[in-house]
Amino acid sequence: MAAKRQMLVTSALIYANGTPHLGHLVGYIQADIWVRLQKMLGADCVYICGSDSHGTPIMIQAEKMGITPTALIEEMHREQLRDFTDFYVEFDNYYSTHSPENRELVELIFKRHLDAGNITKRTIKQLFDPEKNMFLPDRYIKGECPNCGSKDQYGDNCEVCGATYLPTDLKNPYSTLTGAKPIEKESEHYFFKLQNHENFLKDWTRRGHLQEQVSNKLDEWFKDGLKEWDISRDAPYFGFTIPGEKDKYFYVWLDAPIGYMASFKNLCERRKDLDFDTYWKSESPVELYHFIGKDIIYFHALFWPAILHGANFRTPTAIFVNGFLTVNGQKMSKSRGTFLKARTYLDHLNPEYLRYYFAAKLSDRIEDLDINFEDFMQRVNSDLVGKFINIASRCASFINKIFAGTLANQLAEPELYQQFAQAGSEIAERYHQLEYSQAIRQIMALADRANQYIDEQKPWVLAKDPARKTEVQAVCSMGINLFRVLMIYLKPVLPHTAKQVESFLNIPPLQWHDKDTPLLGHAICDFKPLIQRIDPKQIEAMKMSSQQDMEKKITALETPMSAKEKEEKMELISIEDFSKVDLRIAKILEAESVEGADKLLRLKVSLGPDETRQIFAGIKSAYQPEELIGRHVVVVANLQPRKMRFGISEGMVLAAGPGGKDLWVVSPDPGAESGMKVK
Ligand code: 2FM
Ligand code: ZN
Repeated sequence: MAAKRQMLVTSALIYANGTPHLGHLVGYIQADIWVRLQKMLGADCVYICGSDSHGTPIMIQAEKMGITPTALIEEMHREQLRDFTDFYVEFDNYYSTHSPENRELVELIFKRHLDAGNITKRTIKQLFDPEKNMFLPDRYIKGECPNCGSKDQYGDNCEVCGATYLPTDLKNPYSTLTGAKPIEKESEHYFFKLQNHENFLKDWTRRGHLQEQVSNKLDEWFKDGLKEWDISRDAPYFGFTIPGEKDKYFYVWLDAPIGYMASFKNLCERRKDLDFDTYWKSESPVELYHFIGKDIIYFHALFWPAILHGANFRTPTAIFVNGFLTVNGQKMSKSRGTFLKARTYLDHLNPEYLRYYFAAKLSDRIEDLDINFEDFMQRVNSDLVGKFINIASRCASFINKIFAGTLANQLAEPELYQQFAQAGSEIAERYHQLEYSQAIRQIMALADRANQYIDEQKPWVLAKDPARKTEVQAVCSMGINLFRVLMIYLKPVLPHTAKQVESFLNIPPLQWHDKDTPLLGHAICDFKPLIQRIDPKQIEAMKMSSQQDMEKKITALETPMSAKEKEEKMELISIEDFSKVDLRIAKILEAESVEGADKLLRLKVSLGPDETRQIFAGIKSAYQPEELIGRHVVVVANLQPRKMRFGISEGMVLAAGPGGKDLWVVSPDPGAESGMKVK
C-alpha cells in the first residue's frame, strides 16, 4: 500500500481583538474545503490555526475595555473558535500565539538568527506620544496630508490624493490615542537582515511554491531591493520580551507565523502520532501549505521562508493567496451596512449557503470575490435546493413508502452511474488545484443529468401502475445512488448536510472512493428535508441587524480628536442650515412597548388634522407608554424615514438628559397645537 500523504495546512491567524467577518471567511472556507477534500482522499492532513494575540491594537483595545490583554485574548479566542466552528471550519487545533510553545520557538529562532549574523541593532527615530508615554505605530498618527492638505489622514498615505509619505511628513500631526502632538524620540531596535537571504528567496519564489501573480508581485519587491526588517518594539507593548532586554518586545509579525509551529507543537501533546521534528525539520517529507489573504503576501512569501530557512527549519510547499470579499462590487463598508460579522450572518442564515456560494465563485486566482445577496439567494435556491436536494426528495418517498426503505439490488443504468463515478477524479483535481468554481460547475451539470433521468423515467407515473412496481424501485434507487455520488463530491463544501445524508442513507462517513461502490439492497431511513430555501426576509433581517450593530460600535469606538480638531468639529451652522430642520409640535396619540427592543417605544403622533406618523423613540427607560398619550412633544418632521427591524420610523422625538431614567421629552407650553412649526 502506498504511504499516506502527510500534509500540514494553516490559515492566517486572526487578531485577538475581534471576531471574524465575512471577508475573513473567504480564506477560511477555502482552506477548510481543501482540507476536507484531502482527508476524504485519505491523506493524513492536519489543519491548524489560532489567534494572533500580540501587538499594540490588542493592548489598546483591552485598555479601552478596562480589562487585561490576557482577558481580552482569551475571550476573543473563545468567540473566534465558536464562529469558525459554527461555519463548519474544522481545525485540528485552534491555539494562540500567546503561548509557552510560541515563546520557546520564537526565542529559539531568534537565537539561531542572532548566531548566524542575520540580526543587527541600531538606533532609530520614531514618533512618540508624550502624554501616553509610548511610541506610536503609524496607524495611531493622523494629520494633514503634506501633498494636498486634507485633514485626518493616516501616517502612511492620503486617502484623498493617494500620496504616500512618512508619518514624520504629516502637517499638524496628532496621536489618535490622546490627541497630543507627537515628538520624535530615539530608541534602539533589532533588525532582521532580509537582504542576507536574497539569493535563497529569488530561487525559492520561482520554484512553484507560489501562484504566478504572487511571483510577479515579488519580482517588483526584489527590484526595489530587500530591506532590513524591524522586529522589535518598545514598551508598553503586549507580546514576548526579547531575552536579555527589559522593555523591548518582539514585533507581533515575528511571532505570528511562528504561531503556526506553536499551534502544531501544542497539538503534538495530544496527538502522539504526530512528531514535531518530522514536520518542521529542514528537508521534511511532509507537505506544508499556508492559506492567506493578499494583504499579507510580503510577510509569508518573503520574511517567513527566510526566517525558516535561516533558522534551519523546513520552508512551505506552497502559499495559497485569496482575494478580498466585496459586497455588490464594493469594499465592505460599515456605513453602507455591508460590513457583515460572521455571527450576524449566523444569526439569520445557514452557514452552508455561504460555503456553497464561495465555492461556486472561488478560483485559483487572487481575485476579489463579490457577494451580491440577490445572486446569493438565487444561486443557493436554484442549485442546492432546486437541483441537488430535489433528486433525493423526488426519489426517497417512493423507496420509503412502497419498499420499506430498501434500495434495489441492481443499478437500473450502470453506465449512467459509471459516468458519475468517473467524473470524481476530475472533480477532485479541480478542488485540489483550488478551481472550486469549476468543480461546482461540473457537479451541478451532473445534478442536471440526474434530474433529467428522473424526469424521463417519471417514477410518479410508474407508481400508479401496480404491474410496474419493481421499475419504481429501480428508478428511485438509481436516483438515490446518483444523489449519493453528488453528496460525496459536495461533502467538502457541505459537511453538515453530508452528515444528515449519511444518517438518511444509514451509512458510515462518506469517503471519496465510495463513489465507485453503489448502495444496493440496502435499507435507508426516512427522508427529512435537508436544506431550506432562502427567504428574502432572512437577508433583509441580517442586513438590518448588521446596520444596528455597526451603529452601536461606531459610537462606542470613536477615536479621540486633537484639540484643534475638536474646535473645528464644533462647526457653527448658518440660519439657512437651521431652517432646513423642520421641527414641529406633535400630539402623541398612541404609545406602546416594542417586543424585542428594550429601549424603544412605538409612538403614533399627529402632526395636524390630516397627518399621523409612526415614530420609534428610545425613551422607554424614562416613561410608561400610558403617561405619554395625549402629550405634546417636538419632533423632527423632515428626517429621512428609517427602516428598523420593527417597522419604519418617520421622524424623531426630541428629548434631553443623560439617558436611562433621566430623560425628558421636550414639550411646549400649553396652547401649542400639533402641526405648528417650531421656530
Ligand atoms: O493580518 C492579519 O490579520 C494577521 N493577524 C495575520 C497573521 S498570519 C500569521 F502570520 F500568523
Ligand atoms: Zn493628500
